Amino acid sequence: MKVALLGCGVVGSEVVRLLREQADDLTARVGEPLDLAGIAVRRLDRARDVPVGPELFTTDAAGLVTRDDVDIVVEVVGGIEPVRGWLLAALGAGKSVVSANKALLASDGSTLHDAAAAAGVDLYYEAAVAGAIPLLRPLRESLAGDRVRRVLGIVNGTTNYILTRMDETGASFTEALEEATALGYAEADPTADIDGYDAAAKAAILAQLAFHTRVTLGDVHREGIGAVTAADIASARAMGCTVKALAIAERSSERPGVSVRVHPAMVPRSHPLASVREAFNAVFIEAEAAGQLMFYGRGAGGSPTASAVLGARVAVAPNPVAGRRGAGRSGAVAVQERGRFRNGAGTRGPRWRRRRRTPRRSA
Ligand code: HSE
Repeated sequence: MKVALLGCGVVGSEVVRLLREQADDLTARVGEPLDLAGIAVRRLDRARDVPVGPELFTTDAAGLVTRDDVDIVVEVVGGIEPVRGWLLAALGAGKSVVSANKALLASDGSTLHDAAAAAGVDLYYEAAVAGAIPLLRPLRESLAGDRVRRVLGIVNGTTNYILTRMDETGASFTEALEEATALGYAEADPTADIDGYDAAAKAAILAQLAFHTRVTLGDVHREGIGAVTAADIASARAMGCTVKALAIAERSSERPGVSVRVHPAMVPRSHPLASVREAFNAVFIEAEAAGQLMFYGRGAGGSPTASAVLGARVAVAPNPVAGRRGAGRSGAVAVQERGRFRNGAGTRGPRWRRRRRTPRRSA
């Protein structure tokens, strides 16, 4: 099973490292080795601390994603273009795609879903929202028989880190942002975090899945944390509250029936979200039958995000034990059940991509 990796920054280099360190386990789970076919980067001359040779690197992402020896494309570049074109080319060429690209999924996810469905391949993006927290799959699959009323949470690690440091240590906004950047939490352009674009993209994706509707970034009301001052934090403290940047998606009685917003809010210190510190994320889901559910974990940083990427990649691969796809029909996608195949101990199963059946939607 050959993987093309697009991007080798904080998350991409962790993906490479985990892939190498966990090679034996991954091989056992997938049924055959997961090898890197190539890594597309913007510049070849940048020093990278990754355990692979220079021959794997290329600047030709468009050529890499459609290569015959590539089965799965993993994208951790971010941004809309040229990534959208690469991923559409990959899907059109019959490659499954694992993406952490919240901006693209939030703005034009439906085009990618349609391309994946048309080609009968998988599109996974668990890593796009809340890093390592398994959130999209439960929302899409476990709650498929329920009616979600509201999704409420902290989905940006950088702003939660900044607000936590300002609250607990009296750090200035600038100092806290520098720390978050050094720890690999912040986006390449941290205004995406500070001004709420990152959280708004994640809120749109959550709303799409929670309410089975096409919500895009432009539908999300957005306020960043740039205007939050030390005095605001002190006032909140005096009132027994803390300031958190919240993403809220809920059913509304007014058209279009769903309201999605991102803004700083005072949260009582007794509320579970108040204890979500530093770069951790937490998401509450309120569903009619299930009641309140809370998902909590690391929402930013190389390793947590790489964990979600690798989990999706294993899910894309077939599973020799179950006799079908690895982790079941999961992620956040329209997926296709693969044809069954035999794969006994010590044998390699045939590649599912060569046994694809007529595509059909499952979700
Ligand atoms: N910049 C993002 C955050 C990274 O701070 O949450 C994870 O999406």
